[in-house]
Amino acid sequence: MTTPAQTAAPKLTVADHPLILHKLSLMRDVRTGVKEFRELAGEISLLLAYEAMRDLETEPERLSTPLTEAEFPMLSGKKLALVAILRAGLIMADAMVRLVPAAKVGHIGLYRDPQTLKPVAYYSKLPQDIAERRVFVTDPMLATGGSAVAAIQTLKDAGAQSIKLMTILSVPEGIALVHAAHPDVDIVTAAIDTGLNDHGYIVPGLGDAGDRIYGTK
Ligand code: PRP
Ligand code: URA
Repeated sequence: MTTPAQTAAPKLTVADHPLILHKLSLMRDVRTGVKEFRELAGEISLLLAYEAMRDLETEPERLSTPLTEAEFPMLSGKKLALVAILRAGLIMADAMVRLVPAAKVGHIGLYRDPQTLKPVAYYSKLPQDIAERRVFVTDPMLATGGSAVAAIQTLKDAGAQSIKLMTILSVPEGIALVHAAHPDVDIVTAAIDTGLNDHGYIVPGLGDAGDRIYGTK
């Protein structure tokens, strides 16, 4: 018998708030240097987190304000984990820990082979209790989708059960691949671009996110 959870359609949220779109346009601009690019990626990550974490549970807690005593909402439910896909996803997770300082942080090292465009795994370090946490995977670019699919599989193999993928730029191909491989994983992105060029780069895109964040090209 199928349960509602098994049949629910995978969810895609495009957080196309004017502030996010403005900052993303600045990131796209080829004239934007490393310092500003990093700052913009961090700021957009915070705004995306606002959307991605909208359904976090709260429960009332009795508190005293300077004036009175009453019940106020406090975060409850599963604890959080932020998992960065290296390298570029690190900038997003680093920004987001300021919002959720108690979150544990995991790292999955993947790079995309330039010829095959397939992800090559080189590192994984995840919180031991990942199965009990709500996991937010961060990577600014969802291109072919191979890296995200592989990272999510690594998380599931480690026991993760509640996973959201947060990206800054996506293309339909990548979204479709993630949803086909992991229909239980919701995606939150700032924008969906037209498609990929012959080298697997997002067009119009913003270039190589890792290189622009770390100044390696
Ligand atoms: C980029 C990006 C994603 C991946 C997306 O990483 O940060 O992880 O490409 O491409 P895909 O959807 O086609 O898999 P990259 O391989 O350039 O590694 P880096 O972050 O270490 O530079
Ligand atoms: N990875 C990037 O960094 N940029 C792209 O456009 C595609 C994959």
